[in-house]
Amino acid sequence: MPTRAWFPTYIYCEPLQKAGIPRLNTDLADECRRLRDFDAAGRRWSAKNYPGGYTSYASMNELHRFSSTFAALEKKLTRHVRTFARQLDMDLRGHSIRLTDLWVNIMPETAAHSLHLHPLSFMSGTYYVVTPKDCPGLKFEDPRLSKFMAAPPKVSAARRENRPHVTYPAEAGNVILFESWLRHEVPANRVPEERISISFNYNWS
Ligand code: NI
Repeated sequence: MPTRAWFPTYIYCEPLQKAGIPRLNTDLADECRRLRDFDAAGRRWSAKNYPGGYTSYASMNELHRFSSTFAALEKKLTRHVRTFARQLDMDLRGHSIRLTDLWVNIMPETAAHSLHLHPLSFMSGTYYVVTPKDCPGLKFEDPRLSKFMAAPPKVSAARRENRPHVTYPAEAGNVILFESWLRHEVPANRVPEERISISFNYNWS
């Protein structure tokens, strides 16, 4: 083959665990909703910065330190992060990785989360707790998009890997991991049920 692909952008998507996901997600959903009821500062922040939804991103973003439910989730997530780091050929020998932030996102109908990065971390991701049918997925943008100044548009039948965006459906029980510099967004929720996810950042030292 005269043409080969280089510099790939990896995205990881796997079930958190092999069994017991419905029960785990029932517990997590309860805890997420209780947190929203309890977290007045987070509700105020969300009213300004996360219209229509609730996120504990700015108020309670170290949930793994204060809740045994979230601490147990941390252990499971860390195994996936290590696997993904190996797939990326990251050399972490003699280093440790650490979950720095973990927060809850509840998106009722109309709530959306516009394009963003996750600064101050090397790997980020989301775990899906409640995903009503037809709720929005996680949409990633080609990190080179700003460099394609004079490129013609893609044909409508472009191979998936040559398209400027890819959307991973939100599926309860799945964990999605990506490198923190990769821009992504959650389009508006257009179904009447709440979509609940838990997002997190990892760093290394
Ligand atoms: Ni994000």
